[in-house]
Amino acid sequence: MGKSPGAWTGMRKKRWPLMILLLFSLSTATVFFIRSAFDSCSISSSSEASIGRHFSEEKGTEITDTEVSKTAQSLKPNPLDFMKSKLVLLVSHELSLSGGPLLLMELAFLLRGVGAEVVWITNQKLTESDEVIYSLEHKMLNRGVEVFSAKGQKAIDTALKADLVVLNTAVAGKWLDAVLKENVPHVLPKVLWWIHEMRGHYFTLEYVKHLPFVAGAMIDSHTTAEYWKTRTQERLGIKMPDTYVVHLGNSKELMEVAEDHVAKRVLREHVQESLGVRNEDLLFALINSVSRGKGQDLFLHAFHESLQLIQEKKLQVPSLHAVIVGSDMNAQMKFETELRNFVLEKKIHDRVHFVNKTLAVAPYLASIDVLVQNSQAHGECFGRITIEAMAFQLPVLGTAAGGTMEIVVNGTTGLLHPVGKEGVTPLANNIVKLATHVEKRLTMGKKGYERVKERFLEHHMSERIAFVLKEVLRKANSHSHA
Ligand SMILES: *[C@@H]1O[C@H](CO)[C@@H](O)[C@H](O)[C@H]1NC(C)=O
Ligand SMILES: *[C@@H]1O[C@H](CO)[C@@H](O)[C@H](O)[C@H]1NC(C)=O
Repeated sequence: MGKSPGAWTGMRKKRWPLMILLLFSLSTATVFFIRSAFDSCSISSSSEASIGRHFSEEKGTEITDTEVSKTAQSLKPNPLDFMKSKLVLLVSHELSLSGGPLLLMELAFLLRGVGAEVVWITNQKLTESDEVIYSLEHKMLNRGVEVFSAKGQKAIDTALKADLVVLNTAVAGKWLDAVLKENVPHVLPKVLWWIHEMRGHYFTLEYVKHLPFVAGAMIDSHTTAEYWKTRTQERLGIKMPDTYVVHLGNSKELMEVAEDHVAKRVLREHVQESLGVRNEDLLFALINSVSRGKGQDLFLHAFHESLQLIQEKKLQVPSLHAVIVGSDMNAQMKFETELRNFVLEKKIHDRVHFVNKTLAVAPYLASIDVLVQNSQAHGECFGRITIEAMAFQLPVLGTAAGGTMEIVVNGTTGLLHPVGKEGVTPLANNIVKLATHVEKRLTMGKKGYERVKERFLEHHMSERIAFVLKEVLRKANSHSHA
């Protein structure tokens, strides 16, 4: 470390509270800032957006902001500065610790950070416990976000007065008619609709009939945008408004942990101990809510196959372990039982570890060697855990589907395999490849990290969102003057 004792103490002072928080404080309010990696494509926990090269591709403004020093960075004007004093209404379909609402809260705080006036309303059923809702509301109130009832006159007045209204997820569309009623046409021209899901049952007119008339749609990946374009046309006969693809970025807090070697080592030791693995073991982890759509079953089949390959070929490799983070027996009893039976039947229970669902993914990212992203069907909308893992210099073994294809560079920052049963053997081969080629594994991790620094950071996200908000404001203004 070669630092003076003073500097060292300073670093430690800063570091330890954060680590203690990461490790032990799983209470909802405090882990709030650590992005959840769960269920990017579902409504109860949607999300994943990040910002990256795609705007550059579309708008021809390539931003390769590598390794700008922290000082230079903080001197740069915030790209969202133009939102100062603007009134923004955020409409959430729920208030919970799931991806979609957390993402909207991130936007709320980015906007508060530049002095925008931000109002939050939650339209739908409150699925979480009172405690979670209370702590989230307080988190927002503490940062100057106003929280109104979705149905009151205040919500209507705010919608009419606002410079910008953001609807989060397709389901939030129900709020328009239900609350605004005859005022809907006045509000639509300043609505930005943020969409994070890729599933058939969102394509119902009840949710999205006003979609063609809003100022813009902001979608987490090109794949998801394409999906919405074709589905709305084919199923509903409606046209998408101007659509902006906006990839997410990693929070500053996550990057801070990812770049802190001492913190990582401590987290790693802690997790190794809790899993009962040794430092030299190789950990392949899938970090997603356990469900068939996320492909834990196929991953375990591939993992078993890779162990057989290693045995057959008598390869000299450290002992391999599979870690499934995101277990929830109460939610997916049948599927979880199936996974455990498979593990017992194949006698790999000493190599497979199940970890309960948690929002605190950083300790696991600090402890594993490879992230497996095995989402099936259309894949992830974006897959925020993928960029989070890359920040920790982990190579990614991912399905060639959805947002993963827009994040992982096949052969450079990871290896892709097909979705479905056809993907099992390719994934097994890729597991063996990364287990046997240490150099390749480490290089891919480094390349992934470089890619994150180039396009998947918070400031990239702010830049991309700023571009979209400017467009929406411009359109809303031209409309109101027309
Ligand atoms: C994991 O969750 C289950 C219930 O879903 C619970 O019974 C178990 O104690 C939890 N395990 C840990 C280590 O917290
Ligand atoms: C990924 O690269 C490998 C070779 O490195 C290739 O065999 C495979 O088809 C590629 N997959 C995709 C989806 O491009």
